[in-house]
Amino acid sequence: MNLAQPLHELTDLSPGLAEFRQAVVAGLSASPKTLPCKFLYDVEGSRLFDRICELPEYYPTRTELALLRARAGEIAALAGSGAALVEFGSGAGVKIRLLLAALRDPALYVPVDISREHLAAAARGLAQDFPELPILPVCADYTAPFALPVPPGMAPRRRVGFFPGSTIGNFTPEEATAFLRVTARLLGPGSLMIVGADLPKDPAVLLAAYDDAAGVTAAFNLNLLRRINRELGAGFDLSAFRHEARWNAAESRMEMHLVSRRAQVVPLGEASFRLAAGESIHTENSYKYGIEAFIRLGESAGYRALKVWTDPAGLFSIHALEVPG
Ligand code: AVI
Repeated sequence: MNLAQPLHELTDLSPGLAEFRQAVVAGLSASPKTLPCKFLYDVEGSRLFDRICELPEYYPTRTELALLRARAGEIAALAGSGAALVEFGSGAGVKIRLLLAALRDPALYVPVDISREHLAAAARGLAQDFPELPILPVCADYTAPFALPVPPGMAPRRRVGFFPGSTIGNFTPEEATAFLRVTARLLGPGSLMIVGADLPKDPAVLLAAYDDAAGVTAAFNLNLLRRINRELGAGFDLSAFRHEARWNAAESRMEMHLVSRRAQVVPLGEASFRLAAGESIHTENSYKYGIEAFIRLGESAGYRALKVWTDPAGLFSIHALEVPG
C-alpha cells in the first residue's frame, strides 16, 4: 500500500433494517414509549440537524466553535505532531477543519458515523481541503467496540479522539461511561480524548434551544416517524403528533418528546401500537454536565482529566481527557 496516497475507502458497519425494526418495536412496546435518538439521523434528519446548528436559539454549535477557534493551538500542542485523529460522529466538518488546520502533520483522520451518506459526503469535502491527509471513514454505531482501520506500516505518534457537539449528552450517564470506556480501549494508553459537553444553564435558554421559533427542531423530531413509515412500513400520521421539549431538572437533561394529539392506533407490519391522547414517545435526552460531574464521568471510564476550557458566558465546555499509560 502506498501511504503517500490519500486513502478514502469506507468501512461499512452500519446497523441494518432488522436492528432498526427491533429497536422501534421494543421502544413502542415499552412504558413509557421511547425511540432511540440515534435513528433521528437519516439523510433528512442529518440535513435538519445541520439547520438546527445555524439557529439563533441553538447556542451550542457557535459557542463550541468559538471556543475551539480560541483553543485549537492548545489542543494541538497536547496532541503533538503526527497524531491520528478519530472523530466520533462526523458533523458538517467545520470543527474538524479547525482542529486539523491547527495540528502539526496529522498522520491520519478516521471519521466514524452512523449515517453513511453524510459520512461519505463529509469525507469527500474534507479530502478536497486536506489532499495530503489519509482519510479512512468508518460507518458504524460507535457506541459498540470496533477496530480502527490504521493501515499496516503506519505508526501515528498519538491517537486523539474527538467527540464535539455535546453528543455525549445524548447518552444516559451509564451509556456515556460505557462509550468512553470503548473509546479509551480503542485509542489505547497515552491517547487523548477531546470532548465537548454542554453546561447546565437557565432552563428558558434550554427550552428555546430545543423548541425553536422556526420549528426546525420540531421537524427534526417528527422526521423520525416519517423514517419509520418509509423504512419499516409503519402507519404514523405525522399530523397526529406534536414536538415537545422538556427540562428535567432532577436528571439535569433536556428531553424531546412526540406527544400524541389524540387516542390512536399505529400499525407497523403485523404489530400495532395504541397511544392515548397526550401520551408521549420519548425520543431524545440531552444531559447537561457541570464541570466536576463531567470529570467524574471521565474518571469512571478510566480517563484522567487533563484540562477543561469554557466560553466566557459559561455555556459550554471542552474537556481534554487522557488514557493513563
Ligand atoms: C446532537 N446533539 C448533541 C443535539 C443536542 O443538542 O442534544 C441533538 C439535538 N436535539 C435537538 N436539538 C439538537
